Parts: sequence; C-alpha cells; structure tokens
Amino acid sequence: MQVPKSVRVVEVGPRDGLQNEAKTVPTATKVALIERLADAGLKTIEAGSFVSPKWVPQMADTAAVMQALKRRPGVAYQVLVPNLKGFEAAQAAKADEVAIFAAASETFSRRNINCSIAESLERFVPVTEAAKTAGIRVRGYISCVVDCPYEGAVAPSAVADVAARLHALGCYEISLGDTIGSGTPARVVAMIEAVAQRVPRNRLAVHCHDTYGQALANIFAALESGIATVDSSVAGLGGCPYAPGAAGNVASEDVVYMLDGLRIGHGVDLAKLAAAGRFISDALGREPASKCAKALAAKAA
Ligand code: HMG
Ligand code: MG
Repeated sequence: MQVPKSVRVVEVGPRDGLQNEAKTVPTATKVALIERLADAGLKTIEAGSFVSPKWVPQMADTAAVMQALKRRPGVAYQVLVPNLKGFEAAQAAKADEVAIFAAASETFSRRNINCSIAESLERFVPVTEAAKTAGIRVRGYISCVVDCPYEGAVAPSAVADVAARLHALGCYEISLGDTIGSGTPARVVAMIEAVAQRVPRNRLAVHCHDTYGQALANIFAALESGIATVDSSVAGLGGCPYAPGAAGNVASEDVVYMLDGLRIGHGVDLAKLAAAGRFISDALGREPASKCAKALAAKAA
C-alpha cells in the first residue's frame, strides 16, 4: 500500500506532554505554547484535560488555559475527559472537541482511570450522548495497543474489541496508543490490521511514544498501512503518569520532517514548530527531545 498524500498531525504536547511534568508549568506558558502551535499551522491541538486534579495536578488549570487562549479560526482545541463531569467542564470551557480514553489492558485501565475497561466504556455512554446533543465531536484513545506496562503483550483482538466499541459510541476517530513505546513496525501493523477489520482505516490514528526509539519507524509502517492521522508532541514532551518508564511522545518536529521528506502534505511550518518546541523547552529548562529540532538549531547557529 502507498503512503497517504496528506496527513493530519494532531498535536498532543500541551496535554500528553505537560501532564507529566513534575514542576507546575504556569498557565501563561501553556497558553503561549498553544498559541505558537496554532501559529505553526497545527489544526488540532489537545490543550489540556478535565480529569481529577488529585490524579493529575498538572492539568488542574485547563479551564484557565482555555479561557485565556486567543483562538485561531479553523483550529480545533481539544481536551481529554474521563467522565461526564469532565465533559461538562469541557463544554463550559467551550472546547471544540473532547477525547475519551480507554485501555486495551485491564490493569492499565484500573491504574489510569480506576475502573475496568467495561466500566469505562459504560461511563462514556452519557459523555458521547451529551456531546452529540451539544454538537461536540468526540475522539477516542486506546492505551496499551501493543504492550501494557503491567501485563505485557496485548492481543491485537483486544485492541480491536475496544476500538469497535468506541466507534459504535460515535467517536469520529480512534487513536491507537503505544503507551510505553515498546512496539516495533511488524507488531504495530498486525495490530492496525486487526483493528481495521472492525473500524475503517480512515477513522484510525496512531499515537506513538518513543521510549525504545521506534516511533518514526512505527509511524512510517502505519502510513504504509493506510493510516493518515498521526499524534505527536512538540519537543517530544511527555510520558504517562500511570505508565512507569514511558518516555515522551514522538516529537512533532521529527514527524513533520519525515512527512516533508516523503512529500506528504501536512500544513505545518517546521521552523515555527521548532521555535514553539524551543520556547517550551527553554521554559522547562532543558533541550527539546527532538533530533530534528537539535539539528535544525545547529544548522542555523
Ligand atoms: P476516582 O477516584 O475513581 O473517581 O477517579 P470518583 O468518581 O470517585 O471521584 C473522586 C474525586 O475526583 C471526586 O472529588 C470527584 O469529584 C473528582 P472529591 O469528592 O474527592 O473531592 N472527579 C473529578 N474532578 C475533576 N474532573 C473530573 C473528575 N471526575 C471525578 N473529570 C477518575 C476516576 C477517572 C476521575 C480519575 O482516575 C482520573 O481523573 N484519572 C485521569 C488519569 C489521567 O488523566 N491519565 C493521563 C491521561 S491518559 C494518557 O495519557 C494516555 C493517552 O495519551 C494515550 C496513550 O499514550 O496511551 C491518552
Ligand atoms: Mg500518550
């Protein structure tokens, strides 16, 4: 199969990246980051989450972030919600989209959202109903689509079952998360093929973490399998508070550079994106976790 002609890049750094920071990131810094990402051409930006602040304190200011943002027309500002309470907060904050999140592994589901997979899917029913009534699009995530940090290998059929349920609930897209970044291309493709038997490929996205340095290889394999939506995180920010050892998400800069090389359209300005990555890395006091961003900076120096 050929790679798609264009790819939608979903920027998850302000949520998936910053949720994992030990030090509180000021609201104004988050807002400035999101505005820079929109300015770089990203059209879907996950701006935060309405989850329990006891579980993920770093996202406690999401309402303030959403309120302070200067919104750019054509950009969907998305937030993650685990339940109806989160959805109501998202609606009050005028989120354009919400994302619900389930897991393909029981233990991860319990550690992450304190309920079984079946319970989580039940919890999402009122969320998707309320979203439909409100005209708010819902995206679905599945964690641990390759391996679980607690249970080991996850069967592709288990991922396909959860994907089919999220699709049936009305999610416009299902993002397949290699939460601990242990996947390799053949396993990722086998998982995608199993899911694609139940959910159309054009409704699927990949969400790769780069713990083992496999993210770009996995994304390329996913593109060859007909997937045209890729999640990434500026400056490779991230990890997951409930996935021990999970390193950052694949860096948006690295993904965009690869797409450029493949002549795949994406609408993102790499220089502006790298500047956004530099901005947040400076604010966090470290180098961007993006080889592409570092190489570009060295070339410019
Ligand atoms: P629980 O303790 O079972 O829930 O947590 P509860 O219903 O018993 O409520 C406990 C308290 O939380 C109550 O407050 C609720 O009001 C409050 P208290 O009475 O104790 O003061 N609460 C909330 N507060 C704000 N917003 C809400 C909300 N809901 C309840 N929406 C719960 C269950 C799901 C709430 C909790 O486990 C939770 O918030 N988990 C979030 C975990 C999380 O955000 N993980 C990271 C994101 S997932 C991820 O990173 C993976 C992904 O990137 C894909 C991948 O890479 O795999 C998406
Ligand atoms: Mg993630």
